[in-house]
Amino acid sequence: MQTKLREVLKHKGRVVHSVAPESTVRDAVRLMNRQRIGAVLVIDEGELVGIFTERDVLVRVVDAQRESRTTLIREVMTTGLVTVSPEIRVGEALRLVTERRTRHLPVMEDGQLIGLISIGDLSNWATQFLQAEIDELERYINGPRLS
Ligand SMILES: NC(=O)c1ccc[n+]([C@@H]2O[C@H](COP(=O)([O-])OP(=O)(O)OC[C@H]3O[C@@H](n4cnc5c(N)ncnc54)[C@H](O)[C@@H]3O)[C@@H](O)[C@H]2O)c1
Repeated sequence: MQTKLREVLKHKGRVVHSVAPESTVRDAVRLMNRQRIGAVLVIDEGELVGIFTERDVLVRVVDAQRESRTTLIREVMTTGLVTVSPEIRVGEALRLVTERRTRHLPVMEDGQLIGLISIGDLSNWATQFLQAEIDELERYINGPRLS
C-alpha cells in the first residue's frame, strides 16, 4: 500500500490508449474493445482534455439514444479529470478513486501524461500486498515449516 504509482507503472507499462476529441464514438468503442480496456483518454494537440469510459457509453450514448457513428467524442466525454502524481502511494490512490468515484487515474509529471492507472491495477496491487502480509503473519504464528 506504500508503493508509489511510479513503481506500479514500471510493471504495468506507460502505454496510454487515446483518441482525439473529433473521433467518433464508434472508433473509440472499437479501440476499447480491441484493447480490452474500459476507457480511452482524450488528447487534443498533445493536451489531455478528457476521458471517455464505459459509463459514458451507457449514460451519454445508449441511454441518450445517440448514434455512435456520428456522435463525436467531444460531445460525450467526461471533463474535469482527476489526475495524480507518480509520487502518490497505492493506498492514497485507492482512497481517491473511492472518494471521487472514478475508475481511472491519468498519471501526470511536469505537465506530461506518463501513464494511466485503473482501479483494477490498484486493487490487484493491494491484494498482492495483503496476501504477502498474511503469509508473513502465518509464518510468524506457525513458525518455519519443517520438510
Ligand atoms: N490482473 C491484473 O493485473 C488486472 C489489472 C487491472 C485490471 N484487471 C481486471 O480487469 C477488469 C477491469 O479492470 P478495471 O476496472 O481496472 O478497468 P479497465 O478494464 O479499464 O482496465 C484494464 C487494464 O487496462 C488498463 N487500461 C485501461 N484503459 C487504458 C488506456 N486508455 N490506456 C492504457 N491502459 C489502459 C488498466 O490500467 C488496466 O491495467 C477487472 O475485472 C480487473 O480485476 C486485472
